[in-house]
Amino acid sequence: MKLILLVLTIVKFAWSSSSSYKIISATAWITTPISLYPDFSASLTSIDFHPSIFQYSFNGPSTVFTCTTRSCKQVSMVPMPGLNVARLAYGGVSSRRIQQLSPVVVGTQFFLSTGYATPNRDTELIACAAEDPTCSKPNVMNTVNSPGFGQAGLRLTFTRPLGLPIMLIPEARYASRDNRVTGYTIEACQDPLCHFSRSRSSLPFNLTGNANCLGTSIDVALNRLGFPSWLTMCGTELNLIHCLSATCNETLVNQFKVNHDFVYFTYLAVDSQFRFTIATTGQTAQSDITYIRCLDPNCTQSIQSQLTIANRTSPTRTSIARVQVVIDTLTDLPVFHLTGSIYPSNVPVYMFVACQDIECDMSEAVYFDYGAHFGLNRVQVSDLFVDDEGTVIASIRAVYTSTNDTINAIVRMAQSSEAEVDRFTFVEPILIN
Ligand SMILES: *[C@@H]1O[C@H](CO)[C@@H](O)[C@H](O)[C@H]1NC(C)=O
Ligand SMILES: *[C@@H]1O[C@H](CO)[C@@H](O)[C@H](O)[C@H]1NC(C)=O
Ligand SMILES: *[C@@H]1O[C@H](CO)[C@@H](O)[C@H](O)[C@H]1NC(C)=O
Ligand SMILES: *[C@@H]1O[C@H](CO)[C@@H](O)[C@H](O)[C@H]1NC(C)=O
Ligand SMILES: *[C@@H]1O[C@H](CO)[C@@H](O)[C@H](O)[C@H]1NC(C)=O
Repeated sequence: MKLILLVLTIVKFAWSSSSSYKIISATAWITTPISLYPDFSASLTSIDFHPSIFQYSFNGPSTVFTCTTRSCKQVSMVPMPGLNVARLAYGGVSSRRIQQLSPVVVGTQFFLSTGYATPNRDTELIACAAEDPTCSKPNVMNTVNSPGFGQAGLRLTFTRPLGLPIMLIPEARYASRDNRVTGYTIEACQDPLCHFSRSRSSLPFNLTGNANCLGTSIDVALNRLGFPSWLTMCGTELNLIHCLSATCNETLVNQFKVNHDFVYFTYLAVDSQFRFTIATTGQTAQSDITYIRCLDPNCTQSIQSQLTIANRTSPTRTSIARVQVVIDTLTDLPVFHLTGSIYPSNVPVYMFVACQDIECDMSEAVYFDYGAHFGLNRVQVSDLFVDDEGTVIASIRAVYTSTNDTINAIVRMAQSSEAEVDRFTFVEPILIN
């Protein structure tokens, strides 16, 4: 009897140990096919961590889709026609950090516009009040006069602990199409609703001695001081820039070397001890992930490695276009989300890779290549989040293979005792206005 109990205990332990990451929900809804791929901006709601997708245009107005629970069994849909006064900074903007929910004034939404309400070329900060969810009366605030700016680097976040909005506005001397920027203006609000005048600092992009840089940092993360840190790429220099003051007039820069023939989109995450992780595509034809891990908050020491997914055979090897990263809040270790496809053969990759150690030994990592299994075709856009319970959330716009419909989808993975989910539940978003 004792022996049986022991065996049962061992079996149970093995079953529930490291390999217990699983897909715990997959929700999708049909949306309009959109050729402007940046028409997608995903986030988690502040405080309750419900996944949300903002669409620049859905049957006309901008619309925000929000899961009514963490598990996303239902989705609400709120059209925001009032936002039509603004031309949002969607053109060429990689998803993330454009639509932002205030972490302290619950329900208040902020957007960045390319400058339309006041006809000039200035960036505009737009606030939609909590009591006005359809944004019928947007507050449009004119910001810096930046003639031509690298929209791809335009970012908005909120400093800690007061939740003050802060904008990273790249400036480009030339056309912004290739995202080449020459400097940044940092505008910081003095109050959570940005009623008071903003502080303004100029950062030369050449703070590392190189003036012609790419605004490819997708993420902004908060450093140990509660101020933004982000990435720029100047040729082979990958710079991690940290604001050290509320106005960002003081900075610290960590520099890494990458092969810019292979690297374009760079992603950033930070762990509970404010150590940064940088992820991007592999720098060689063989590797899939470039992984940089700071070992202390100032990043005076770091590791940089090329990771190759175990057991990917070369004939079916699909090029990885983006490597997104979050830090699992339970393990403090990176979880990557890899997407890519070979066009036009459309062999898609949608893969979670959960590291089991700080070096991310790929023979130990946990893999979920869910795309083909869930019937997803060519990748359009995706974003990656983690909530306070360690659930990793991918928000995706893709084509659903069996119907050719364009869908928005929320796929959640966690170390959980819940049942594994292996197909999408399609929902009809509920209109709220
Ligand atoms: C950066 O550029 C500015 C303006 O072009 C110039 O005045 C400054 O000397 C440059 N700094 C460095 C470190 O190259
Ligand atoms: C940054 O701004 C603060 C507050 O305005 C000021 O006290 C400080 O001297 C400035 N630092 C630099 C390096 O300009
Ligand atoms: C980190 O950098 C800041 C600013 O450069 C410095 O004041 C601080 O002492 C550094 N901390 C450590 C632990 O090195
Ligand atoms: C890779 O393949 C080998 C041999 O088939 C197998 O032993 C190993 O577990 C596989 N590794 C992963 C991470 O799938
Ligand atoms: C989806 O579109 C492709 C290419 O246009 C076509 O070959 C395929 O038959 C379509 N599938 C369905 C289910 O309509």
